[in-house]
Amino acid sequence: MSGLFRRKNVDDLLAGATPLTRTLKTVDLTFLGIGAIIGTGIFVLTGKGALTAGPALSVSFLLAAVCCGFTGLCYAEFASMAPVAGSAYTYSYLAFGEIIAFVIGWDLILEYALGAATVSVGWSGYFLNFLSEMGIHIPTVLTAAAGTTPGVTTYFNLPAFIIVLIITWIISIGINQTKRVNDTMVIIKLAVIVLFIVCTVWFIKPHNWVPFSPYGIYSFHNGTAAGVIPAASIVFFSFIGFDSVASSAEETINPSKTLPRGILLSLLISTILYIAMTLIMTGVVKYTVFTKYLNAPILAVLHQTGQGWLSFIVSIGAILGMTTVILVQLYGQSRICYSMSRDGLFPKFFGEVSPKYKTPFKGTWFFGIITAIAGGFINLNILSELVNIGTLTAFILVSAGVLWMRKSHPEIHRGFRAPGVPVTPIIAIIFCITLIIGLNWETWVRFLVWFALGMILYFAYGRKHSALNQQQ
Ligand code: ALA
Repeated sequence: MSGLFRRKNVDDLLAGATPLTRTLKTVDLTFLGIGAIIGTGIFVLTGKGALTAGPALSVSFLLAAVCCGFTGLCYAEFASMAPVAGSAYTYSYLAFGEIIAFVIGWDLILEYALGAATVSVGWSGYFLNFLSEMGIHIPTVLTAAAGTTPGVTTYFNLPAFIIVLIITWIISIGINQTKRVNDTMVIIKLAVIVLFIVCTVWFIKPHNWVPFSPYGIYSFHNGTAAGVIPAASIVFFSFIGFDSVASSAEETINPSKTLPRGILLSLLISTILYIAMTLIMTGVVKYTVFTKYLNAPILAVLHQTGQGWLSFIVSIGAILGMTTVILVQLYGQSRICYSMSRDGLFPKFFGEVSPKYKTPFKGTWFFGIITAIAGGFINLNILSELVNIGTLTAFILVSAGVLWMRKSHPEIHRGFRAPGVPVTPIIAIIFCITLIIGLNWETWVRFLVWFALGMILYFAYGRKHSALNQQQ
């Protein structure tokens, strides 16, 4: 057992010199957050969400938002206490010790890498739609992973594969480039969403909201879980990403103030837009109509309102919007690997900073290629639910970490203190567990397999090579 729970301390963390450059401010972080948050969840998963909860989907979004809000406060406290790269991974190294930190780091890889793969599949759906409106068609076998569309033979999702590789290249050549691309795309995404809201809100027919919650809070419909909670477990994906703001702590100016503000602001703005959009979507169209629009549910609303011109613009916004999500997820991914490698838990290869680009170039490409392959071969629902369970587990550990650190290390300076502790983290944990329960058992099993692989890696490599091991 010795060494499994060896911990870092805040002073050592802060003293560690960093070759990364500090350039990010609150507004940059909020953009980074929105860039990571608004994507496949709202543009694609709302279709499945509406079929699962009916018009009460907006309540599911609210539930998931409350879960993330409480967890966000915990993230913000940790980020202000240990404003260094690594997010939840670094926090749990402080709070619980190495083995839990490894578990979380491994979990975050699932969140970011498979998250980016999920979004690339959603991106591909809108992109193919866009191409077909332009009269361009690519061979059907290359439009989706095998077995995703009943009755249609498909082998590989080529657009998903290619977009991940392009974004990997952008990230591997540096933060300034990344930020500029991200900021422009976030502005376009927000403008398109506001345009969608303004143009469609007039077409709401309140009778579409009746019955508001056809499947109740939790029930079984055609053998699968339905209702507000199972839908919240699906659309939880829409909020993933705010935590990646915390991963950029080492590149942030005045992180103890900027990080909490960036996290909470990006979460708040996204929540307001989501609730407005889902109320409109289920108000304009009967929720059952989304069965035919699972790849691009927003388009159902635009067809219903006869606004074809808007459908073209919204498709472009969705494509760009999802591009930023992939961008931030892959960025978070490369920084987690950088931190884990710097700590000796992953081979040095992943953390080597390129002298030319000042980024962890090789690690970024390694995981970029794996992510691209996952996006090419795996089904969107399998990916998204796996990402959700991994993220919810990380959220539970971060919230528990805040509770534990308040008790065990009250003396450490916190630039931001989560209000209402211990109630806040406890509520966060309860919400996360509820959402995990809403996921199906296959997802649980897949997650356990991932966890077992991580443990093998830790005991075969990380434990021996850990930087803390060298110090002892
Ligand atoms: N929240 C991100 C999305 O919905 C992951 O695409």
